[in-house]
Amino acid sequence: MAPDPSGTPRAATVLVASNRGPVSYTLGDDGELTSRRGGGGLVSGLSAIGSGADTLWVCSALGEGDREAVRRGVGEPGVLMLAIDEETHTAAYNGIANSVLWFIHHLLYQTPLEPVFDDGFRRRWEAYERYNASFARALADRAATGAAVLVQDYHLALVPGLLRQLRPDLRIGHFSHTPWAPVDYFRLLPDDIAAQLLRGLLGADRTCFLTRRWADAFGECAVRILGPDALAGTRIGVHGLGADAAFLKERAHRPDVAERMAALREQIGPDRKTIVRVDRTELSKNIVRGLLAYRQLLRTRPEWRERVVHLAFAYPSRQDLAVYRDYTAEVARLAGEVNDEFGTDGWTPVVLHVRDDFARSLAAYRLADVALVNPIRDGMNLVAKEIPVVSDAGCALVLSREAGAHEELGEYAITVNPYDVTGTADALHTALTMPEAERTRRTGELARAATALPPSRWFLDQLEALRA
Ligand code: F6P
Repeated sequence: MAPDPSGTPRAATVLVASNRGPVSYTLGDDGELTSRRGGGGLVSGLSAIGSGADTLWVCSALGEGDREAVRRGVGEPGVLMLAIDEETHTAAYNGIANSVLWFIHHLLYQTPLEPVFDDGFRRRWEAYERYNASFARALADRAATGAAVLVQDYHLALVPGLLRQLRPDLRIGHFSHTPWAPVDYFRLLPDDIAAQLLRGLLGADRTCFLTRRWADAFGECAVRILGPDALAGTRIGVHGLGADAAFLKERAHRPDVAERMAALREQIGPDRKTIVRVDRTELSKNIVRGLLAYRQLLRTRPEWRERVVHLAFAYPSRQDLAVYRDYTAEVARLAGEVNDEFGTDGWTPVVLHVRDDFARSLAAYRLADVALVNPIRDGMNLVAKEIPVVSDAGCALVLSREAGAHEELGEYAITVNPYDVTGTADALHTALTMPEAERTRRTGELARAATALPPSRWFLDQLEALRA
């Protein structure tokens, strides 16, 4: 293990562990390393850990820049980046975490042909075990007696169990930011692997989820697969991460956002309504059916032609995986098809942006008349919480019932079944025609519900509960 940038062994009393850390590095052609801090609610929530001498965030080096930073001993105080060998990391991250566990929890398999659990899978699983063991060792080496360790997500599902064996004195929490699969779907996994994953998480003192629904699904898997006493040694917690209102409002009123708003207004044209979506191009986000619903709206309700623009921001994600590259291409193809079918000289029905630009996302949030958030399945979905907080004139939210955020926001949103394209097209029409007073009232309620548990509180609540 490389020493942390301070060069000294630490005895941290609060530790966070996650695959992706709060900072990443890129290596320029001139050999210069540039660092970039990640954004988003998760990073801001976990950042409540602070960077004091007694805190440590353990993460993995992800790209060449990160690995070079570790080699050179470059880093931030309070962050320990593990340079796990590249082959192991790739097999664990792409081969298991993203291609198996993500698919299981988001119900993404096309089951007539997949999944196939063969020898290749077993080799990748061994890499996943090694990768989890590296985290467990690093945490065990750095934690002070009785320290609190908060382990994040499906990448590190085995860490609580492994760490418990190495350091029985620690307070260990695990947090799943994804949904949890229903038991029949979870059992697609080979039986020994399903049991190993559950035992891994049950090594924690507390195993936590974003909603009651995911917590219950986990509990059911544990009891059905491991037996009636499975949950005896672990408390199950629910902490629904909210939007960071203060940060978002301040950031959304900086000059770079105003510039992006002006550029977007040019693209939208005068007197048109906007339907906004902002996602990573992630299989679970359901961008393709969103575009199909928009096409159906324009086909079946011609009164909307020339009067609405769909701002669809779909930022590349997990492009190492062919299925993600294909999906990204399909999103672009379909957006082009809608524009070819309906576009006119002065009107582009879909404005698709694929280059990640946070200021432009905030600009779109501010301009949104309608927010479209229609995931197949989503742990929470912070975009659904952020848009109502930031939108200038209030927005109507079309929200999938399968997003964790629906548990808190559903009452004030227009609910859709994400697979029902006709239903989603109708919901878009309802949202576009919502009377102004109603829209304002609902936006206020959405913003209130969305900010009930700000990221720092979300983190500190977990810490307090773990120490209790
Ligand atoms: O959004 C759910 C989540 O599990 C986050 O907690 C995590 O940061 C992200 O997905 C993983 O995405 P990536 O593969 O881009 O790091």
